[in-house]
Amino acid sequence: MVSIVVAMGKNNAIGKDNQLLWHLPEDLKHFKNLTSGHPIIMGRKTYESIGRPLPNRTNIVVSRKENWFEEGILIVPSLKEALKHAKKIDSEVFVIGGGNIYSQTIDLVDRLEVTIVDGEMDADVFFPKIDSKIWAETKRDCHSKDEKNAFDYCFVTYERKESLKK
Ligand SMILES: NC(=O)c1ccc[n+]([C@@H]2O[C@H](COP(=O)([O-])OP(=O)(O)OC[C@H]3O[C@@H](n4cnc5c(N)ncnc54)[C@H](OP(=O)(O)O)[C@@H]3O)[C@@H](O)[C@H]2O)c1
Repeated sequence: MVSIVVAMGKNNAIGKDNQLLWHLPEDLKHFKNLTSGHPIIMGRKTYESIGRPLPNRTNIVVSRKENWFEEGILIVPSLKEALKHAKKIDSEVFVIGGGNIYSQTIDLVDRLEVTIVDGEMDADVFFPKIDSKIWAETKRDCHSKDEKNAFDYCFVTYERKESLKK
């Protein structure tokens, strides 16, 4: 099973100036719970934005740069290679961004794990439209803002309608 994990604002905003748009510790916990122990695939810009390998996960970074090596990550030249390696490591694989990588993988993945953040943010990177003809919402778990999390947010799971029929 290959899943996308993303946190987006109401207008599908996901990032600006190679940074996230909010600080939501509960979402970071959710991300950690979903992805720990499984391979994660990300674009080079997202890796640079995080700035270090995420622990307890094989970090697979997609880049066309040649002669780039870095400790603690697996660098691959294509998404095809990334998926091939990830699937060899584990049956659960997570694609963790950013916008460029999401656009190229939304038609390939089985599931979307989306945190919908209740805010309209100024952004320069967006998640593609989630087409309701293709995706069915199968789970929604909403939380109100509190002293640590500045926005209301929902954890929403979408699955491909065609795989639900099987
Ligand atoms: N809200 C969220 O959940 C979330 C999650 C992740 C990221 N983000 C945000 O998203 C933004 C970054 O997204 P982005 O779209 O600018 O960049 P990105 O998708 O993280 O990375 C793009 C880079 O990946 C490499 N790449 C892409 N497709 C490739 C392919 N088919 N084969 C080989 N390499 C490929 C290229 O690297 P080279 O240039 O090295 O060749 C490309 O420049 C940041 O603002 C980040 O904070 C948000």
